[in-house]
Amino acid sequence: MPEPKKKILLTGAVPQWDLDALEDAYDLVRLYAAPDRAAALAAHGPDADAIAVSGHAPVTRAMMAACPKVRLLANYGVGYDAIDVDAATELGLKVTNTPDVLTDDCADLAVGMLLALARNIVAADHHARSGAWEAGSFPFQTPVTGARLGIVGLGRIGRGVADRMAAFGMDIAYSARAEKDTPGWQHFTDITALAARSDFLVVALAATAETRHSVDADVLSALGPKGRLINISRASNIDELALLDALETGGIAGAALDVFEGEPAINPRFKPLQNVILQPHHASATEKTRRAMGQLMRDNLAAYFDGTPLLTPVN
Ligand code: 8YV
Repeated sequence: MPEPKKKILLTGAVPQWDLDALEDAYDLVRLYAAPDRAAALAAHGPDADAIAVSGHAPVTRAMMAACPKVRLLANYGVGYDAIDVDAATELGLKVTNTPDVLTDDCADLAVGMLLALARNIVAADHHARSGAWEAGSFPFQTPVTGARLGIVGLGRIGRGVADRMAAFGMDIAYSARAEKDTPGWQHFTDITALAARSDFLVVALAATAETRHSVDADVLSALGPKGRLINISRASNIDELALLDALETGGIAGAALDVFEGEPAINPRFKPLQNVILQPHHASATEKTRRAMGQLMRDNLAAYFDGTPLLTPVN
């Protein structure tokens, strides 16, 4: 008799190719598709063997407690802020994520957002497309080459952005708890001081309870009326209401954002603003990268069930 398939709970949507592969290998319960998620958790939690985490719905201590056999939370994404990792560790659960495979795409989009913000590419497209060009040329914009770039959080993605922007001749500085090995980029421990010397501030912090609102009204005020903010990380790293105030009053020049509080709904105050570029949290969303993320998540599940070392543990 073949062994019965292991039962996996999937908390959020994944691409069809991952669904197919997960369904092939496991007894898959799509929690997010259940009409009553709590009832589905109560029904399937007790005999679930692992949880595949996708999306940003919180994975709480109570949820873990409802799945007493589960010892692995395999996250589809590098950021695992939706998971209560402290609770997982205390309860003896391992958490894995999908680092590295998405670094290039995320850094690429941050660069695209920075360039689009500096040169107002979205409005310029409208200017050409709408015929407004025939009535007058597009206003002068802001140069990138040679400008001062501040990176908040020099992890994999932050470094990817810095490396790319070094090729633009930007004057690069970063904030991190400890100084890192860099080609001479200036190190700050204080984000306000970093903002004060930056024309562009890119937020690339891994989100935790400690990093919540790292970019607050003081940081925005230090960035100032000529400064521009790019967020490629998590909305929680920025005080979004303070950001909206700064954008509405000219406290900063503009922002390009891939992430929002309460996304996919976004604060309606963003919508009339002409000094923002709004992106639908898609930094890692290329087929190549999403396939690699799904593969890595599934490889972690397979390693767990095979009793071999997890590929990318976070606790
Ligand atoms: C995805 C992400 O939006 O990796 C992350 O941390 O935010 C993104 O790649 C998400 O994880 C897909 O569910």
